[in-house]
Amino acid sequence: MPEIKFYNRAPVPMEMHKVKIVQKLTLLPAKERLQKMYDAGFNTFLLHNKDIFMDMLTDSGVNAMSDEMQSAMLRADDAYAGSETFYRMQKKLEEIFGIANLLPTHQGRACEHIIAQHLVKPGNCVIMNYHFTTSKAHVTRLGAHVEELVKDEGLVTKSTLPFKGNIDLDKVRACIAKEGADNIAYMRLEAGTNLIGGQPISYENMKQATDLAKEHGILTILDASLLQDNLYFIKKREESMKDKSIREITRMVADLFDVIYFSARKFGFGRGGGILVRDEKLFHEMEDYITMFEGFLTYGGMSVKEMEAMIVGFEETMDFDVISQGPQFIAHCVKELDALGVPMITPGGGLGAHIDARQVVDHIPSDQYPAGSLVAALYLCGGIRGMERGTLSEERNPDGTEHIASVEMVRLAFPRRVFTLSQTEYVIDRVKWLYDHRHLIGGLRFVHEPKTLRFFTGKLEPVSDWPEKLLEAYIADFGADQ
Ligand code: F0G
Repeated sequence: MPEIKFYNRAPVPMEMHKVKIVQKLTLLPAKERLQKMYDAGFNTFLLHNKDIFMDMLTDSGVNAMSDEMQSAMLRADDAYAGSETFYRMQKKLEEIFGIANLLPTHQGRACEHIIAQHLVKPGNCVIMNYHFTTSKAHVTRLGAHVEELVKDEGLVTKSTLPFKGNIDLDKVRACIAKEGADNIAYMRLEAGTNLIGGQPISYENMKQATDLAKEHGILTILDASLLQDNLYFIKKREESMKDKSIREITRMVADLFDVIYFSARKFGFGRGGGILVRDEKLFHEMEDYITMFEGFLTYGGMSVKEMEAMIVGFEETMDFDVISQGPQFIAHCVKELDALGVPMITPGGGLGAHIDARQVVDHIPSDQYPAGSLVAALYLCGGIRGMERGTLSEERNPDGTEHIASVEMVRLAFPRRVFTLSQTEYVIDRVKWLYDHRHLIGGLRFVHEPKTLRFFTGKLEPVSDWPEKLLEAYIADFGADQ
């Protein structure tokens, strides 16, 4: 969206949509939130949505739909096989990405399951700019390993670099030399690197990396789940791309890859997923997994209503006004908090605003989950649900020791078109309060620790009575009713 100029004040992000349907929110009294947090085992994934004021856990499947998306749902063609809806979806994706071979799936990790199941053999290596939890779990489950070759500066939390998701080409060359190209199942580039703060990757870097992979006969795969934000950043931050339309940029990016997959819970504002496969033979080989694990080839586990909505969502993603909303709100939140002295991941990226938890609660040891503690504290002090993206979200090392995350973050996701600027200001205010009372936050330990993706369903407890002390201070400042 063009930055709307103001006459009498500094510009603020501007919504290029208006509200048509609303959902009532409640802010539970502080002490009730404390009980809810104990009930949820200090894991924000286990809270009930009705007990949350600002749900900033994720932007996955919770973006607001447009009127056009909702009305498209009415024309969904219900059929087990051969639904017209599928052919419309295929046509739209071909128009945008230039690949006709579409495998529909129920969500992003289903794509990862199928891709890994088909391409990864025990002992293989998969190159990534950075891992995502589910994309790594599917590779390691098969006895292979992931090499994360993001440039070192991508892990520097406070920075002004525009493309912190870029992969390091020297590291890629060294990895190919060490592993041997034949042992590399594929190179997966994540556009909008989730776990380092939604940081984008430049077109130029994608081009160089995929050229290098192709030189060695390595299959190139784009995780396009967070592509919409990445497209915005390519247009805004990459000088040579600033005059190109989003549609042109998307096609240039797509042309670099053999396979493109996405979670349509993010890309397309719906709920579903899909894999686009350039090579006809590979496409047909992978089809078997769809019928086995997802559903028939013309719905892949998705509701046709959602598919119709996301067809419109894909088109809306090509609209610069639409895809600017998220990054602009995130940039505002990051800038304000940074100015208030709160350690943030800078520059603001896509997906959400990310707090550098390692800096905020540097008195909490890594094995007591600093980001997990901070995110729990934020629910207690404001009813805001964020997501831990740090050591808790990692799997343990094979010897049982903690795998300490390179970046320890609390993510405050901005689902698209959902929150207003006043709600954003409320979040900024509570985060600042919490930052000023950070010494009251203590660590957590597991009481129930699942082996795989433990952050989803694990239960923890505080190592002391720090939540009670923290709430006392909160109530003293804001009163018990909020
Ligand atoms: N790839 C990326 C980059 C993602 O961010 C996600 C999901 C997936 C794949 C998996 O897709 O959830 O549809 O199975 N990210 C969500 C999040 C869970 O909250 O960031 P999925």
